[in-house]
Amino acid sequence: MRCFRSPAFLWTATLLALGSRALAYPGGTPDYQTDAAPFCSSCHSSRSASALAGAPGDRATKELAENKHLALIRAGEQGYGELSAEDRATLVQHIQALDAASTVAIGVVPKARPGEEITVKVQVKGGAGPVVGVGLVDRAHRWQARPIASAGWQVVGAPRILGQDFQEQTRWLGRRPASSGHNLSFVNVEGIRSDAAAGEWGRAEVVWKLRAPSQPGAHPLVAAYWYGTEKGSPLGVTEDPIRGKLLRGGFAGGSGRVLFSEMIQVRVQ
Ligand code: HEC
Repeated sequence: MRCFRSPAFLWTATLLALGSRALAYPGGTPDYQTDAAPFCSSCHSSRSASALAGAPGDRATKELAENKHLALIRAGEQGYGELSAEDRATLVQHIQALDAASTVAIGVVPKARPGEEITVKVQVKGGAGPVVGVGLVDRAHRWQARPIASAGWQVVGAPRILGQDFQEQTRWLGRRPASSGHNLSFVNVEGIRSDAAAGEWGRAEVVWKLRAPSQPGAHPLVAAYWYGTEKGSPLGVTEDPIRGKLLRGGFAGGSGRVLFSEMIQVRVQ
């Protein structure tokens, strides 16, 4: 058990103890300026079993928000036991409303010439905030989606990130040295705020320029959307005097989501 006393373990334990403010994930990925892919989001839940099509046994069903997240709230397990049955029912309602309002849509031309530069616009709604993640991948699949550059598309320049206030954001991308290129296929959008109790939903838009693959044929494009749910409900967070706002279901709970847009096959010819 030596590894449990290793500095790495202590560091992880310290980070966990610091709670959501100091950490990535709830709060997005403040420190990972790279092409993330959905397989990293093991804690997140899915809204449809097709996002894990082909997974062994009942794994895809287990990953559904209904089973991985809402069932625990209803049963009063984990941190949810501190809420009354009535409050738990309200929290479930808030989360269901937020999920229903959370969407991701991709807009792109149906055809391009090999190597042509095209624009891809991704619009997201909902998401608890304060951060949402948006990326471009080649499949609507949590374990098999690749960042778009691995599927032949080249990201040209920095994606344009427009927050809820319609203002352009550069802070998150700016943490990566310009010399390494800001042409990422995954971004965080900051300053998002949804309030499920009031029925108010966040929104954001990310616009990419892509160079089409050089090989003719049908080339898939899918937008991936990472969002949280619990911070969108007053019942989904607890206030700790030292650690600040904490998620009711905890850092490793299933309150995150990964959602995919429809898949567009762009015909390169
Ligand atoms: C240890 C569990 C865990 C892992 C692993 C994880 N997440 Fe999450 N993530 C969460 C939870 C819990 C939330 C939901 C917060 C809420 O419900 O409001 C979340 C929310 C998010 C959000 C929205 C942030 C916000 O402010 O609500 C983004 C973006 C995100 N995750 C991206 C990622 C990416 C990218 C990866 C892989 C690099 C990843 N996550 C891996 C637990 C995790």
